[in-house]
Amino acid sequence: MKKEDIVSEYTAKTVAGMEEILQRELDLLGAANTKILKRAVSFEGDKALLYRANYCARTALRILKPILVFPVTKQEDLYNNINRIPWEEYISNESSLAVDAVNATSVFTNSQYVALKTKDAVVDRFREKTGSRPDVDLDNPDLRINIHLFKETCTVSLDSSGSSLHKRGYRHVTGPAPLNEVLAAGLIQLSGWNRTVPFHDPMCGSGTLLIEANMYARNMPSGYFRPVFGFEKWADYDAELWTRIKDEENAKITETGPEIYGSDISSRAIANATENVGFTRFQKQIRLEVAAFENTVPKGTAGIIICNPPYDERMEVDDIITFYKSIGDVLKKKYTGFEAWIISSDLKALKFIGLHPSKKITVFNGPLECRFVRFSLY
Ligand SMILES: C[S@@+](CC[C@H](N)C(=O)[O-])C[C@H]1O[C@@H](n2cnc3c(N)ncnc32)[C@H](O)[C@@H]1O
Repeated sequence: MKKEDIVSEYTAKTVAGMEEILQRELDLLGAANTKILKRAVSFEGDKALLYRANYCARTALRILKPILVFPVTKQEDLYNNINRIPWEEYISNESSLAVDAVNATSVFTNSQYVALKTKDAVVDRFREKTGSRPDVDLDNPDLRINIHLFKETCTVSLDSSGSSLHKRGYRHVTGPAPLNEVLAAGLIQLSGWNRTVPFHDPMCGSGTLLIEANMYARNMPSGYFRPVFGFEKWADYDAELWTRIKDEENAKITETGPEIYGSDISSRAIANATENVGFTRFQKQIRLEVAAFENTVPKGTAGIIICNPPYDERMEVDDIITFYKSIGDVLKKKYTGFEAWIISSDLKALKFIGLHPSKKITVFNGPLECRFVRFSLY
């Protein structure tokens, strides 16, 4: 068996509500034994799958490789167990590291303290063995360590993604309330869009849904524009394998795709979307215009609309009820034949759309509980 064929267990993290979509994505990429956890999916696979999942799983935020699980009943358990991990197999004393910690136990009161104690345990081991120690680099470390404390159990993992995978590398400018790219990719898949009928976002802001839709429709890997992944700095990094995986996945990108239309009332938002779309070189595939939704003219007689209007949370609206009423009026009057999906945290305002929803899904936009609602305008 070649070293890269060794099967390991991994945990892919995602945003709340996207677990099933992520599981399906990982299954399609060839993962074995996928299991749904809270805001995560565990799976098994070889190194090729690890690279492929980082490159292609649109709804994964990061992919962790657990290396040690141990009970924690008192604070010293954390330091002692982490200090005995042979870190020199993963990094050298000249490398840099960062620690992300999540604490849901009563042993510690604060995640930052857990991260600090973990860092101390790692660097003390190097200091004892070599006389020098790795540096801490929070932004661009050689190794990102993840600590998860839950039910008096600590899981220590290596973060194969590095920075979060929602950082796709294409979004250079944003407006006041951009959607997380992983959430956007998940909403598009949750809608069941067939990737053939035209796609519309009439409140497109910086263009996240449009770009994610175009990448999805053309089989472009979600990591296509990302400059670097965490595993590229690991001691067991296989550059040849990584090149092969990218070549295989890039060969699936299609030249043709559906029509994609974005508009927004704000010329600033369209300027931002134009810049992001320009970076991806999707100018010919994504058509953008400045227009109030009320004044849009439907392109064609059918298609899907997915849109993220202001919720009066991060983006203020003068009169949210009147605004949502007008969205409903425009859909009714102009968009017969279309299917519209709207995500909002304002459940009361959503009712004022005045159309009967044919589906409602609970999703989270950061801390905000939202409904992703379908209106079938046939
Ligand atoms: C929450 S933001 C969308 C963010 C976007 N999904 C992104 O990722 O950047 C809502 C957008 O709706 C736009 N908007 C507000 N009222 C509008 C209207 N009547 N017609 C069209 N766009 C409108 C705002 O200018 C803003 O860009």
